[in-house]
Amino acid sequence: MKEIQWKTKFEPFKIKVIEAVPVTTAAERLAVLKRAAYNPFNLPAEKVTIDFLTDSGTGAMSDKQWGALMAGDESYAGAKSFYRFKDAVTSVTGFANVLPVHQGRAAERILFGVIASLKPGATIVSNAHFDTTRANVEANKMEALDIPVKEAYLFDTPGPFKGNIDLAKLKKVIKEKNVPLCVMTVTNNSFGGQPVSMANIREASKICKENGVPMFLDCARFAENAYFIKTREKGYQNKTPEQIAREMFSYADGAWMSSKKDALVNIGGFLAFKNDTAWLQKAKEALILGEGFLNYGGMSGRDMEALAVGLTEGLDENYLAYRIESTAYLGEGLLKAGVPIIYPPGGHGVYIDVKKFLPNFPQSKFPAQSLVCHMYKTGGIRAVEIGMLMFGRRDGKGNWLPAEMELVRLAIPRRVYTKSHFDYVIEVMAHIAKNKKDIKGLAVAWAPETLSHFSAKLKEVN
Ligand code: F0G
Repeated sequence: MKEIQWKTKFEPFKIKVIEAVPVTTAAERLAVLKRAAYNPFNLPAEKVTIDFLTDSGTGAMSDKQWGALMAGDESYAGAKSFYRFKDAVTSVTGFANVLPVHQGRAAERILFGVIASLKPGATIVSNAHFDTTRANVEANKMEALDIPVKEAYLFDTPGPFKGNIDLAKLKKVIKEKNVPLCVMTVTNNSFGGQPVSMANIREASKICKENGVPMFLDCARFAENAYFIKTREKGYQNKTPEQIAREMFSYADGAWMSSKKDALVNIGGFLAFKNDTAWLQKAKEALILGEGFLNYGGMSGRDMEALAVGLTEGLDENYLAYRIESTAYLGEGLLKAGVPIIYPPGGHGVYIDVKKFLPNFPQSKFPAQSLVCHMYKTGGIRAVEIGMLMFGRRDGKGNWLPAEMELVRLAIPRRVYTKSHFDYVIEVMAHIAKNKKDIKGLAVAWAPETLSHFSAKLKEVN
């Protein structure tokens, strides 16, 4: 019989365990938001109906992953679980030297500590550093320089690989500055979760090699990136996501992963090196000092088991097709509802272009954070601001400086929400788009110096 290509897309899993979705009243949400000082990081999750704060560690594990937890070997040294984890990482990345860490930023702290000890004051160059990556570079008194392609800033202009690095700038920066490392973030979280092409990874690697600069992948969402390459880049249509991922890693000298994303676990990560270098030796010392012994880092045996299984599931083609298409469904729905987004939608989330959505909203009143709060008030939806508050620049006299971007990210947990949850979000956003005048501005009442957005306290202003 001929295979028919059905038009209806469905989630490629069925539900075995459920968790109730909190439903709240408007009065409750107003009170809770005020208590949370207009910062979604302070909201109790039991008062959040749809939680799009992050796709990190918020995914649902499979029956196979839950089963694997029982096989966790909790030996301090030489645990079976460590070898299963290490083999899974090596088989996906090709890297033989694997250090377990509790999450991505632990790998960043270790790696940038090592680099800064060998090359103080250096410049780390990237298509874009994620905020914890930047913070760890800067905490080690180095410069974190982003050189995305210019299309990355053209939010409403479509393009297949708007996550790419600017190759001409890369050459120039390497010549002019003291650059010990180039980081390719796949997908590019800070610029809309946009993918990086294989050609761009290959060329960047060539430039780095010619100049003796190592290149690492910050590969939290490498599987989503591989799927975009499969569907958008010539020559990859008949390759599996696994083969594509393997080629991506083949151009790099190492990688770190926040496995809380594409490895479908709630906690975990790794730092991996192609070769046994001085960096690896120093990183091992730092791992034992701050995370744990070489065979578990910051994870338990059962965490490593779940991660090993999740790495393979995250590369499954049916899963990836569902993942990328469901993000696109939400993105297209928002666009139709009159909400401008970074286009095309990225892999793990949809990013609202708030400067375009609220063109008359005063820059000084935190437009993206104001929209985040309004989304919670209106529909119990939690999202995150990428704007003035997150970038956190002040003039030295306590005044906040406007940011180049004012975005709201709706990051989608993996295998958690269904299409009707997305339809609900689209309906709420369409209502907001028709009633923009109800959105209230904000001012900062208190904020710490670094990574301010996580704990800042705000108040409403007229
Ligand atoms: N690199 C990228 C590209 C990330 O997106 C993240 C985390 C990290 C590194 C740090 O990893 O959280 O495990 O320590 N991103 C989350 C987010 C927090 O919401 O985008 P971590």
